[in-house]
Amino acid sequence: MSKMIFKGSTILNPVPVVLVTSMNNAGEVNVLTIAWTGTICTRPPMVSISVRPERLSYDYIKETEEFVINLPSRNMVKKVDYCGVVSGRKVDKIKEMGFTLEKSEKIKVPSIAECHVSMECRVKDVVSLGSHDLFIAEVLSEKIDESIIDKNGKIHFENADLITYSHGEYFPLPDKSIGKFGYSIKKHNVNKKRK
Ligand SMILES: Cc1cc2nc3c(=O)[nH]c(=O)nc-3n(C[C@H](O)[C@H](O)[C@H](O)COP(=O)(O)O)c2cc1C
Repeated sequence: MSKMIFKGSTILNPVPVVLVTSMNNAGEVNVLTIAWTGTICTRPPMVSISVRPERLSYDYIKETEEFVINLPSRNMVKKVDYCGVVSGRKVDKIKEMGFTLEKSEKIKVPSIAECHVSMECRVKDVVSLGSHDLFIAEVLSEKIDESIIDKNGKIHFENADLITYSHGEYFPLPDKSIGKFGYSIKKHNVNKKRK
């Protein structure tokens, strides 16, 4: 492998692409597309999103200190792109995209009913990093479409047709697993009878 050296940049790949709903104190709801997001703690469950201060969503999240991360499916990719290139300052994106808002369990900001998974988040801290501010938030409740949960309670994200973002393009996720957590050290069944 012959490798080229690049100056430091944001090339971590692949990254999720999500729709974040937010609301201002007047009850107006907005949605934007976010790729700079991640899981940052298991207990308590915490996530982060990085948002530029010029976004309308930034103002809304600062105001109410709440947001919902909604995971979009492949059939929503054009809407995902639209919500990432048009500001709520110009267009009511919820209306324009025909999204159905669904009441949340623990926070005032609603989720997008068309998404299989939604995570209700309350902001715990905001860190100014440069171009973006990092919102660190606790996940208070999650809504998951029953159609992707099997009879044993296992969630099958592979059936949610999720998408990822890589270097300016959207990609579908494969629907077949290529390994299971811990399989690399799992012993083979050695109970075969010796002859
Ligand atoms: C794929 C994709 C990912 C994006 N990720 C982010 C992000 O992580 N943070 C951010 O501030 N803006 C991001 N944007 C840009 C915002 O979604 C975009 O500026 C949006 O129009 C802002 O909407 P608002 O002003 O209604 O909040 C992304 C856009 C796209 C298309």
